[in-house]
Amino acid sequence: MNQFNADFSSLPQLAESVSRWAIDFQQTLSERPVGCLNAPNLLEGGLPEVGLGAKQAFAEFEHRVAPFLNASAGPRYLGFVTGGTTPAAMLGDWLVSACDQNVASPGDSISSAVELQALAWLRQLLELPEEFSGILTSGATASNVLGVICGRQFAGKQQGQDIARDGLAGASIEVFSATPHASAQKALSFAGLGRNQFTQIARLDNSEAMDVNALALALRESSAAGKIVLASAGTVTGTDFDDLEAIAALCRAHQAWLHVDGAFGLFARLSATRHAWTKGIELADSITSDSHKWLNVPYDSGIFFTRHPEILQQSCSVAAPYLDVESSLPSFMDRGIENSRRFRALPLWFSLQAYGREGFAALIESNCAQASMLADWIEQSPGYELLHPCRLNVVVFRPTSDTVSVKERLKQINQSGKVLLTPGMWDGKSAIRAAFSNWRTTTADVEIVCDILANCAM
Ligand SMILES: Cc1ncc(COP(=O)(O)O)c(C=O)c1O
Repeated sequence: MNQFNADFSSLPQLAESVSRWAIDFQQTLSERPVGCLNAPNLLEGGLPEVGLGAKQAFAEFEHRVAPFLNASAGPRYLGFVTGGTTPAAMLGDWLVSACDQNVASPGDSISSAVELQALAWLRQLLELPEEFSGILTSGATASNVLGVICGRQFAGKQQGQDIARDGLAGASIEVFSATPHASAQKALSFAGLGRNQFTQIARLDNSEAMDVNALALALRESSAAGKIVLASAGTVTGTDFDDLEAIAALCRAHQAWLHVDGAFGLFARLSATRHAWTKGIELADSITSDSHKWLNVPYDSGIFFTRHPEILQQSCSVAAPYLDVESSLPSFMDRGIENSRRFRALPLWFSLQAYGREGFAALIESNCAQASMLADWIEQSPGYELLHPCRLNVVVFRPTSDTVSVKERLKQINQSGKVLLTPGMWDGKSAIRAAFSNWRTTTADVEIVCDILANCAM
């Protein structure tokens, strides 16, 4: 019996031990060190010539990998905008590997229909008009790539050029943005437009949001035949929102493509008191968001929507006789970067059903309340200075002491093992960011974070 067959015969026992481990990991996340700051590198040890079998591979995992995992799915990992995993999403994700569907083309599995249903539910959750269609991507970076290449294709069409087919040569395209996320700049570099080749639009005072008058002037003065505006619904540090309604009107007047990055900020739409900040999103040409951030679907789970499916199709179309299938459903490989794709929709489909609009709205509200509790504490604390008012889920601050750098203080905080924060920059000053986006976080966790910050400032 070869090793594949041997492992397959002991699958029930193997699955039981792995699932026991996974459940224990989930149940002890709050007590585990939040960040693993001393993970060994695993380069020593070559490829086994004779396979060890899945049982031994799992033993190796328990011994060599498990002790060095972080608790980024836990309640006090406040770095980046990390999310976590809900129980339903995790179970859906387990099934993705068990069912191993390739959601590239439709016709021989229900998996494409599940992705379309998950996209339709997302559209309802985010209150987007029905004309929006899209694809689930590997993350907001991939979605930003799709937004930029769609804008590029649109701009080419305005000049009688099919850029996806014939290339960029001779195309005249100008990109405008105030605070593009680093991944949007990466998207510009992938698209052959140049990471730094965008017209910097001024920001409003003490904000990362775009000054709409400055955009109006720049669009008016532009001699480019094709224009792309990259706007934000929630910038990564200030959580600022561009005035999307005004920007959309300008884009319409200047025939510019409007792409909006709402990787996490778009979920402000679920909060009654914050919904208005996203007004105008329904007028965008394309939209980026992420389920692996505030919807707490495990990685990787990004969202891309556009109101111009034909432009997306032209930008991503892949033609080969062996890929030609008959179906009334769209072929996702003609809508995105990858041809072969995992059954990415399933964890999201589980999660949206399990928790519904109410569940996610409550999650957004509670994370915002936790962020504001931390911001209030920082404002009262002599050891720290709040750099920007906290309105959503991110707190931006720095130590007041002149004798300690932000980097040193961050290291001290993270070495506690009880919280993990990451750096940022506000108004030219280096800063510490704490981003709340996990269903497990409670006010007791915020108290723990405050105690650690206080101890580090002593
Ligand atoms: C506004 C924004 N856009 C894009 C991204 C990139 O997201 P991802 O890491 O999912 O590619 C992030 C990540 O934090 C973000 O906050």
